[in-house]
Amino acid sequence: MDNTTADSSVAPASEAFVASTDTLVIFDTTLRDGEQSPGASMTREEKLRIARQLERLKVDVIEAGFAASSRGDFEAIRSIASTIKDSTVCSLARANERDIRAAAEALEPAAHGRIHTFIATSPLHMEKKLRMTPEQVLDQTKIAVRLARQLVNDVEFSAEDAYRSEEDFLCRVIELAIAEGATTINIPDTVGYAIPELYGNFLRRLRERVPNADRAIWSVHCHNDLGMAVANSLAGVKIGGARQVECTINGLGERAGNCSLEEVVMAVRTRADYFGIRTRIDTTQILATSRLVSQTTGFVVQPNKAIVGANAFAHASGIHQDGIMKARDTYEIMRAEDVGWSANKIVLGKLSGRNAFKQRLHELGVQLDSELDINAAFAKFKDLADRKSEIFDEDILALVTEENAAKHPEHFALVALSQHSEMGETPEATVVLAMAGKEVTATAQGNGPVDASLKAIEVHAQSGAEMVLYSVNAISGSTESQGEVTVRLQRSGRIVNGVGADPDIVVASAKAYLCALNKLVGQAEHIGAQV
Ligand code: KIV
Ligand code: ZN
Repeated sequence: MDNTTADSSVAPASEAFVASTDTLVIFDTTLRDGEQSPGASMTREEKLRIARQLERLKVDVIEAGFAASSRGDFEAIRSIASTIKDSTVCSLARANERDIRAAAEALEPAAHGRIHTFIATSPLHMEKKLRMTPEQVLDQTKIAVRLARQLVNDVEFSAEDAYRSEEDFLCRVIELAIAEGATTINIPDTVGYAIPELYGNFLRRLRERVPNADRAIWSVHCHNDLGMAVANSLAGVKIGGARQVECTINGLGERAGNCSLEEVVMAVRTRADYFGIRTRIDTTQILATSRLVSQTTGFVVQPNKAIVGANAFAHASGIHQDGIMKARDTYEIMRAEDVGWSANKIVLGKLSGRNAFKQRLHELGVQLDSELDINAAFAKFKDLADRKSEIFDEDILALVTEENAAKHPEHFALVALSQHSEMGETPEATVVLAMAGKEVTATAQGNGPVDASLKAIEVHAQSGAEMVLYSVNAISGSTESQGEVTVRLQRSGRIVNGVGADPDIVVASAKAYLCALNKLVGQAEHIGAQV
């Protein structure tokens, strides 16, 4: 990383980030704001895998985490900073010395590193949360941005809860941050309160009123509490002149989530006639990224979700199908293949060889770490192909996710499962688990075969966790499909998700449950401050 000390009287944006007026910087915060969503916390390996995929997607900036929040986050940022070369890697930092130094240290190996420092500026947040006066917030802004700019060339400043801040005061804070060297100014709608036209005009007024506004790139960061995060972000771009959008894959994020990357990118691309701007995103990687994030976090994408939902390009009505066959643009405004949906859904079967499997992984944008990983995934593929005649893209992605999950330190692994259920009888299940190097067996009864199996696991796991979500999803439609199960567990205020897939949904449930239990056990190191 270029650590040249900056002259605080000038604030030229570092070259990589000077967006020409017709280029929109895409700042992805799936690994930071997205991860703050209860249950979406990820391991270091999972974050690294997603960061690699974000680089393939060609996002400009990857916000990899919040270095000062925990040892786990610090290390995740550092390993992402060491690996990613084409995207800028960013760490969040509160506006204090400890956070900023931790961010700089975590980013030290980065080819391009950015410190993103923030402080709240709304009367409510300053008085009730920070217990600081406006003058103290101004002082802290100055100290924080100046220090960050001494450590890196690329500094973003966010005024948390900007949209509910008093305009005159916000102008003073922003002017000061730019004077101290901030190269990007972010105007968050932290609580999702904005309305598109009002937010766009707010941003435009700020840019008109701040005297040194043209020395920074302006950015939008909108939450989705009223379902308007994407609309507000686009208004910030069109009306307000923002040239950076902060967003997450699948709109992942706290509460109702953040602005969805895929929707903003495809809106700007599909309506280039209106927006007159472009992004550098490789849109053909959108679907693979969406699936990776969904399978890693266990946050299922709703079927009617724009761009990446299973039905987003499905035409069920006869009139629509007839129109599409005559001319695609009668009912389609985007091409499914442009966002990564493949026309050829059945990909492989049990006669497919390793090369065909490897080629398909490549086409799906999946990169496994080594030949050994490919071999292990291929062995699983063969095993699945023996049980299921047609292997779909979704099956391949699920088994890769499972293969990746298996690489984490496993406290519990499923060795065998058998269960018996009959109408009118109480179902019973027997599981064999590998635990701390030895095999243990337990039998239990339950309401149904899934309940019995999970109770049998608990005989040995004794987790004391509460299940807050259990969902089953057919990966590819028919009854021959694999079931993908998501389990969400809560213990002592911590929430984790586990995902498992198998043609047998009882086995898929046991795998998902064990995946969540393994995360609960391994999570202790990840506990730390949250924004
Ligand atoms: O929503 C928000 O205000 C944030 C800031 C930390 C940028 O996430
Ligand atoms: Zn946010």
